[in-house]
Amino acid sequence: MTVPIAANVAGSRLSGPELADLLGQWTVPDGPLYRLLAGRIVRLADTGQLPPGLLLPPERDLADALSVSRNTAAAAYQMLRDEGLAQTRRGAGTRIGPHRVTPAGVHRANGFFAAMLEAATVDVDLGIAAPECAPQVLAALDNPVIVLDKAARREATSGSGHYPFGLPSLRAAIAGLLTTRHALPTTPEQVLVTTGAQQGIDLLIRSQVITGQPIVVEDPTFPGALDAMHRAGARLIGIPASHGLDPQRLDQAVSTHRPALVYLIPTYHNPTGHVMPPGDRARVTELAAAHPDTVFVDDSSLAELALDPEPSGNPVRPLAAACPLLPNLATLGSLSKTYWPGLRVGWIRASTGMIAALAAAKAAADLGSAAHPQAIAAALITSRHIEILDWRAAQFRARRDALQDALRTHLPDWSWTPPRGGLALWVRLSGQPGAGQANAAAFAQAALRHGVAVVPGRLLSATNSDHGSVRIAFTQPPEQLRRAAPALARAWQSTTTRPS
Ligand SMILES: Cc1ncc(COP(=O)(O)O)c(C=O)c1O
Repeated sequence: MTVPIAANVAGSRLSGPELADLLGQWTVPDGPLYRLLAGRIVRLADTGQLPPGLLLPPERDLADALSVSRNTAAAAYQMLRDEGLAQTRRGAGTRIGPHRVTPAGVHRANGFFAAMLEAATVDVDLGIAAPECAPQVLAALDNPVIVLDKAARREATSGSGHYPFGLPSLRAAIAGLLTTRHALPTTPEQVLVTTGAQQGIDLLIRSQVITGQPIVVEDPTFPGALDAMHRAGARLIGIPASHGLDPQRLDQAVSTHRPALVYLIPTYHNPTGHVMPPGDRARVTELAAAHPDTVFVDDSSLAELALDPEPSGNPVRPLAAACPLLPNLATLGSLSKTYWPGLRVGWIRASTGMIAALAAAKAAADLGSAAHPQAIAAALITSRHIEILDWRAAQFRARRDALQDALRTHLPDWSWTPPRGGLALWVRLSGQPGAGQANAAAFAQAALRHGVAVVPGRLLSATNSDHGSVRIAFTQPPEQLRRAAPALARAWQSTTTRPS
């Protein structure tokens, strides 16, 4: 659902940090900062994200949020006024001027996605946690006959090619993977193939949550989930989880708010890398059993990205492994992080009843994902899966270690818990001379101007909490990560010496 804000826009305003969130990588390409800023604001007005009448933040607040001088913000507003795109009345602030806008355009996408939707990119993008294609996958896409025999090729191209539940061979391959490798007994009928885990999240929200209902999430969490929830008009309740989720707080939140959905990332959490300990997992599944009206979602999209051996010696099991028949517990998975995000292959594992409801929502969204890539994915899962996981783990291990070493050298006061898996560091900014809690959003803006994108905590937060932390992905090659660290150090230094 999009919120038609035109009706109440006279009273609506944006704070400096809220406008900063929407700007994305606004300092690219090069040019005078005030022009780039004004240009971005115009584009946001054009897309409907800044509707007519909206009150812009005071110049000083915007300057603080962007870590630029007040002159830059003032000159940008002046440019907007000169071009008739904004109006300022003494004592009443600066408002966006009249322009055409469609009510459906007003949803403000999470600023995290602004960068993804842009053509221009920064020098080193450590914001988007998306790896390149694994060589085994590349070879299969180049030449499908390597992995697909004739019968499999015919299956993928027979009939209309519409498979709202997913190509049968891929549903079977995913069921087999969950059963054998993840100790979660699963039949193909319990699997819905989705266009990436992102669609899985979206379908769960569409089919299980109605506008205004609460959803409980960890704070911080994956921004794609937050965006889908905001779009659906859900009411978000965040539970602090910078150092892992406290099941007791989750229990309180569920008992108090009776949410329609609880969305968790128990394994290699994005962004913290945390792994929920076994005792806490047991408490969460007990909680799910005690609240059958709430759907609990275990987003296991990163669960196959183990970089170091687990203490148990086995892959971390999904929550549902302890209670495979619980009807209100859904498990999400994806090949994006291990194989390639461009494959767009994800899945939901749930009860057959929930899968049927989700398939109906999927049919309404796209009539089913493309059949041929599903056939390739199925063949790779059954023949090369462990080889691909091992390759990816070695690649990310080297990158994680390169990033950690470079940050320790250039920013020795920053701290993080080294992750055993996943693809990002959740870094606490500290050591700024004379500062209290660091403003991570302002730092991310400074980093952008030094050519490096990182994600500030507030874009990962249900409550817009800054956390004094940034997410730094290690999906780029080691030389890029080594190049980024001194640039981040210069940006960090500049946030203490910014002119007013
Ligand atoms: C926790 C989590 N869930 C879902 C997704 C979306 O992944 P996909 O590319 O499969 O849609 C991501 C991607 O970053 C993620 O980190």
